[in-house]
Amino acid sequence: MSWDKKLSTRPNLYLTGFMGTGKSAVGRRVAPLINAQFLDADCVIAERVGMDVPSIFAQHGEASFRKLEREFVASGHPNTGCVVACGGGLIIQPGMLEALEKKGVLICLFASSDTVLKRTSGKTSRPLLNVDDPKTKIQRLMAERLPIYRKVRLAVSTDNASLSAVVKRIVLLYQREIALKD
Ligand code: S3P
Repeated sequence: MSWDKKLSTRPNLYLTGFMGTGKSAVGRRVAPLINAQFLDADCVIAERVGMDVPSIFAQHGEASFRKLEREFVASGHPNTGCVVACGGGLIIQPGMLEALEKKGVLICLFASSDTVLKRTSGKTSRPLLNVDDPKTKIQRLMAERLPIYRKVRLAVSTDNASLSAVVKRIVLLYQREIALKD
């Protein structure tokens, strides 16, 4: 595919990984560099149902939120031209990893539990981490989920790397992937 091909025809780039690995911060910066639209799956879902993620969890439960995530993947966003930051639990659901790899280029971001704790502490937007002992929760959830995150073919560590270095690496990976898909 030629690099100047219209925005709308370019494969989506999906960023996955645990909470606090930098998916939204990185995705927002990568999008203009590849002429794509940035979408945060959590924000799209929140807008669609008219309430934020903590309220969805509190009022309807985690299972309802997971269903909204699956709907987002199946039909809730454009098929091309987007950089999508996925919520950390989206890909853990059966079939989602395969669905995203089929829909576009999937990259998993990694960070240590200490980094995640630092990046997420003091924030209340993540219902799963609004607990007395977030450190233990992060370590437990991460251990549970790592086998799935590790199945993603393309991976980038955001520990000990500047945001701009991570952004550069992801743009290169994306360009290489779409050249191979050509
Ligand atoms: C979740 C991650 C969150 C959000 C929700 C659940 C998870 O997104 O979707 O709180 O299960 O890992 P971020 O990964 O963007 O924080």
